[in-house]
Amino acid sequence: MTAADHKVDYGPLTSLIGKWVGETGLDVAPDHDCEPCERKFIDELTFVGVGHVSNAGKQSLLAVKYHQLVKHCEDQNVLHDQIGHWLYEPSTGIVMHSLTIPRGVCVLAGGTAKTDGANVVFDVEANRGNETFGILQSPFMDQNARTDSFQMTLTVTGDQLTYRQSTKLFIYGKQFDHVDSSELRRVQN
Ligand code: HEM
Repeated sequence: MTAADHKVDYGPLTSLIGKWVGETGLDVAPDHDCEPCERKFIDELTFVGVGHVSNAGKQSLLAVKYHQLVKHCEDQNVLHDQIGHWLYEPSTGIVMHSLTIPRGVCVLAGGTAKTDGANVVFDVEANRGNETFGILQSPFMDQNARTDSFQMTLTVTGDQLTYRQSTKLFIYGKQFDHVDSSELRRVQN
């Protein structure tokens, strides 16, 4: 892997690099008390290029790492903390989105990035049980708050980024569509 370098061409991932903030996020999450429970949130996303990666001497990837921090609007307490990478394979156009959340859940989602006029649209998904683009979770989460699938569409238009993600859970004895969406603006390149 090479060090982060401004000369590296990250392809569609270039559009992500920088720091983004949003104040209009909406979370629909499972809860004992209110069902479904909706919350507005503020979020920060930071993407940093980490260079080229070579696998088995023949696969070449470009990698961008990220951190997402989501806070309650009212008291700024942390609601969600997520880290991972976005990867791009120029020879196939495949995009990968890895994420880990501090509940004992890891996802590797795969898909595409398409340029549509001024928009770069990333579309990725992962399904539990899939050996490649899949989901791994702790025994507790598998038994009590299981993630069955993850799908995300993220669009960058200049300095505006929007995303919508649907995380299908099985919790409290039934299926629940945990949906998060937000609109952010780039505050730093
Ligand atoms: C913007 C992103 C996200 C936000 C703001 C968010 C927020 C929340 C909130 C508020 C809850 C209710 C429980 C609690 O109060 O802690 C929750 C539950 C949960 N979330 Fe998320 N989440 C996000 C993304 C994700 C992702 C990407 C996954 C997995 C791929 C995930 C998996 C879960 C699971 C499994 C639960 C059930 C845990 C439980 O209530 O016992 N979430 N999330």
